[in-house]
Amino acid sequence: MNKLTINAQNKKGQIDKNIYGNFAEHLGRCIYGGFWVGKDSSIPNVNGIRTDVVEALKEIKLPVLRWPGGCFADEYHWKDGIGDPEMRPRMVNAHWGGTVENNHFGTHEFLELCDMLGAEPYINGNVGSGTVQEMREWIEYMTFDGESPMANLRAANGRKNPWEIKYFGVGNESWGCGGNMRPEYYADLFRRYGSYVRNFSGNQVYKIACGPNSVDYNWTEVLMREAGQFMDALTLHYYTTGTGVWENKGSATEFEEDLWFRTMKNTLVMEELVTKHDEIMTKYDPEKRVALIVDEWGTWFEVEKGTNPGFLYQQNTIRDALVAGINLNIFNEHCDRVKMANIAQTINVLQAVILTEGPKMLLTPTYHVFNMYKVHQDAELLEVGKIAQDYIFGEEKVPQIHSSASVDKDGKIHISICNLDPKASASIECDVEGRDIKTVNGSVLASEKINDHNTFECPDKVKPSEFSDYSLDNNKITLTVPAMSVLVLELQ
Ligand code: AHR
Repeated sequence: MNKLTINAQNKKGQIDKNIYGNFAEHLGRCIYGGFWVGKDSSIPNVNGIRTDVVEALKEIKLPVLRWPGGCFADEYHWKDGIGDPEMRPRMVNAHWGGTVENNHFGTHEFLELCDMLGAEPYINGNVGSGTVQEMREWIEYMTFDGESPMANLRAANGRKNPWEIKYFGVGNESWGCGGNMRPEYYADLFRRYGSYVRNFSGNQVYKIACGPNSVDYNWTEVLMREAGQFMDALTLHYYTTGTGVWENKGSATEFEEDLWFRTMKNTLVMEELVTKHDEIMTKYDPEKRVALIVDEWGTWFEVEKGTNPGFLYQQNTIRDALVAGINLNIFNEHCDRVKMANIAQTINVLQAVILTEGPKMLLTPTYHVFNMYKVHQDAELLEVGKIAQDYIFGEEKVPQIHSSASVDKDGKIHISICNLDPKASASIECDVEGRDIKTVNGSVLASEKINDHNTFECPDKVKPSEFSDYSLDNNKITLTVPAMSVLVLELQ
């Protein structure tokens, strides 16, 4: 029997809603075909932005959206993406398939999208191939209220009032596609570029430094030591593959239990990464002023057969739902340091929440997890005592269940539980201390086969249903959680 003990009085801090953020890059069909179809499209849109996608993302209360990359950010020159769309230069998207980027989706379009979504924009600036002046002018263009060359240009392009821009990233993966830098060099560049990311007209920019790749603890050490005082946040990137081998990441849909197990094991590494990077940050920042932002995470499998390898298009199964649930639980539990996370990527790329095909759109199992977990946004994390049985595969094991809990402003307690075992249901005894529980409601995302997924022919194969397999007796809830499922309970 698994056991969870929730202390309703022991609040551990607020779960920042931005943990439920997304990432959208000019990559494959994320922007073009995903968010953007153009004003003349027969696909329903407002000013070129797909209506179905906006509605779906409003439903999950998407709090923040990162753009324009990714690796693309360090090749992007923002002035190419303003003004009359027909006059905007066309460029090669060298990182992602060598396609032509016509720049029809630029700063104005992105900020209008965020407005429609009610999401905060998180813009990633170009350090790798851009200048300090270019970065400074972008901020001036977006936020300066008054007479200035960039504010005048913005007005000439149809936007008199400035936007409020809080989240701004100074480079992306500067250790890799963003310039192959050493941490000492990037730390200095961050200090230099960051100095010119100015707070114009009362706008306060939250400066985000490029953080480590996965286990690169030295990067975190150097950045915190040399530039910690100049930043508001440091990022972390970690992707979950099916195999653990980067050269052959495994298929998104064709796998057996060995790769299911390996994926679970690989994704649980996030706990260790967040813990260890946090420890290093705490050495330099014991007050936890500087946030850790996991602005790229999720599954990365081989692309679907017959698709452009540079487009990173992959399907999304119940296995992805487990990965989403586990990572979101980890971020919730580290909410004292992790203030934002952005799954890669929103539409048609990597662990997408939405897939599109022409006018069709489907919601992936990952989308459903975000929808179920939205109850944790801005809620108070609760302490959970955990005793988990093992899910054993061959000689190895992982915990069968993975969970987190919170209490919202109305006093409702939510517990999210993942059952990692694809073959056995999980019996759980859940004790709630410090509160009288009268009602239990639940929603569960489960499926029959480990590779079940939604298709355009069958878009609702994997979708949440009401959960009723529990009994409540004197604040003790006894549950049976189906094999390979994600459950969210609401207690009142
Ligand atoms: O999300 C895809 C790519 O992964 C991003 O462009 C890059 O930052 C990372 O390597």
